[in-house]
Amino acid sequence: MTTQFAREVFKAADHKPEFEDRPGDAESLKLALRTLAGGVSIITTGEGEARTGATVTSATALSVDPPRMLVSLNRTSSTWPVLEKSGFFGVNILGPSHEALANQFAGVGGLKGAERYRGFAWSRAVTGAPLLDDAVAAIDCSVEEAIERHSHVIVIGKVHAIRLTGGRSLVYQGGAYHKLG
Ligand SMILES: Cc1cc2nc3c(=O)[nH]c(=O)nc-3n(C[C@H](O)[C@H](O)[C@H](O)COP(=O)(O)O)c2cc1C
Repeated sequence: MTTQFAREVFKAADHKPEFEDRPGDAESLKLALRTLAGGVSIITTGEGEARTGATVTSATALSVDPPRMLVSLNRTSSTWPVLEKSGFFGVNILGPSHEALANQFAGVGGLKGAERYRGFAWSRAVTGAPLLDDAVAAIDCSVEEAIERHSHVIVIGKVHAIRLTGGRSLVYQGGAYHKLG
C-alpha cells in the first residue's frame, strides 16, 4: 500500500529538478557553500596595538548548556597566533549597519591588526576581549580547546559574558552582504 509519504516522494520525483552532479572537490564545495546564507560575526582578540580580528561566518554555538561557542579559523590568518597567545576572543554578531566593519575585519584595503578597529566603539567585559559596543550581540569567550585540522583550527570558546543589543544579523550569501527584512 502506498503511504502518503511515498506518494509525495514519487510526486516530487516526477518534477525531475535539473541538477548537476559534481565531484567532491574544493571548487564544487565552494559553489555549494555560496548558496548557504551565513550570519556575519567578527572575531576580536588581543590587546592595545596587538589587537586584531577577522570577519567570519563560521561562528556558532557548540552548545548552550554549557555555554560554548565555536569558530573555524584559517591557521594562516593573522588572527590565529594572537588568539592562541591571548587565550580569549569576542564573537561580535554584526547588524545591517556594519557592512563597512565587516570589510575592515576581512582585511579589505589591506587593513591589518589594530587598524581594523578604527571608527567604531569598543569596550571589554570579563576576559579582556574587545567587544563592539553596538553589536547585535557580543559574546566574551576564553579558549577552552583549539583543534588544528587541515588548513583551519576549530576554536571552542567558554562563554563568560554576553552583551545583548538585539536586532537582526547581517547575512552573507552568494558573495555579497544582505540585510534581512
Ligand atoms: C563573509 C566572510 C566570511 C568569512 N568567514 C571566515 C571564517 O569563517 N573563517 C576564516 O578563517 N576566515 C573567514 N573569512 C576570511 C577572513 O575574514 C579574512 O581572511 C581575514 O580577516 C583576513 O586575513 P588576515 O587577518 O590574515 O589578513 C571570511 C571573510 C568574509 C568576507
